[in-house]
Amino acid sequence: MEFPPDLIVFLRKVERVSALTGAGVSQESGLRTFRDTQSGLWAQYRPEDLATPDAFARDPKLVWDWYAFRREAVKAVRPNLGHYSLTEMEKKFPEFTLITQNVDGLHQLAGTKNVLELHGNILRVRCAVCGRFTETWGSDLDSVPRCDECDGLLRPDVVWFGETLPRLELESAVTASRRAQVFFSIGTSGVVHPAAALALAARENGSVVIEINAEPTPLTPKADFVFHGKSGEILPALVKAVFDISIQV
Ligand code: OAD
Repeated sequence: MEFPPDLIVFLRKVERVSALTGAGVSQESGLRTFRDTQSGLWAQYRPEDLATPDAFARDPKLVWDWYAFRREAVKAVRPNLGHYSLTEMEKKFPEFTLITQNVDGLHQLAGTKNVLELHGNILRVRCAVCGRFTETWGSDLDSVPRCDECDGLLRPDVVWFGETLPRLELESAVTASRRAQVFFSIGTSGVVHPAAALALAARENGSVVIEINAEPTPLTPKADFVFHGKSGEILPALVKAVFDISIQV
């Protein structure tokens, strides 16, 4: 993989870097993306049936089971070279913020510390009524487990369509994007707001925008540098070129 030499020189001296990641970053770990035409989750399921407050109100069991199925998929996989490359970037850049739309926790499992989870985390469960978090719940397969405290239905701690993002995470993400001298958009189709607007906020503030994605996205024409391919291959190559570090699992 070849990178423009000027970019490599620039990245060696840059101080403030932010990266926004999406489902594409976890694809090489074995998790499905949402919008890939053949294999994406939204090619097989309808988001309005499974990922909205209305869907949960209408058929909580269907929604609970779908997230339980995805939770098991998440538990079965490991971070890939892309995740580990981002951990190395966090160590090397003086200021580095990882903003993710992913709910799989793989960035943290790979050792990245400063992670802003914009869409929550599928491994956490909370009461839909009182908000209390719980680590354990019943395994009665016929019904949705309930809160020990108030008997409300339990739900995954993820953001559904129509819900607001966690305020602190979003505020920190906007600040980090505006401060960034370099903003990476990696493995995201860039169509879900407000996450999609972060790259533009960075750009408006003079950030160099670098996109790494399997295919073109709406951000592509606005990015300063675009690298098409797998993030699990491009990111390790970039870390090698900039810092002369070989990423290994
Ligand atoms: P998408 O599925 O919309 O986009 C994933 C992107 O990653 C696509 O542009 C793919 O081409 C690209 N891609 C696939 N494999 C890749 C690889 N190995 N390396 C690099 N790129 C790859 O997923 P997100 O953008 O994360 O929200 O979706 C955003 C949000 O929409 C999700 O957080 C979720 C979803 O509906 C909610 O559930 C609220």
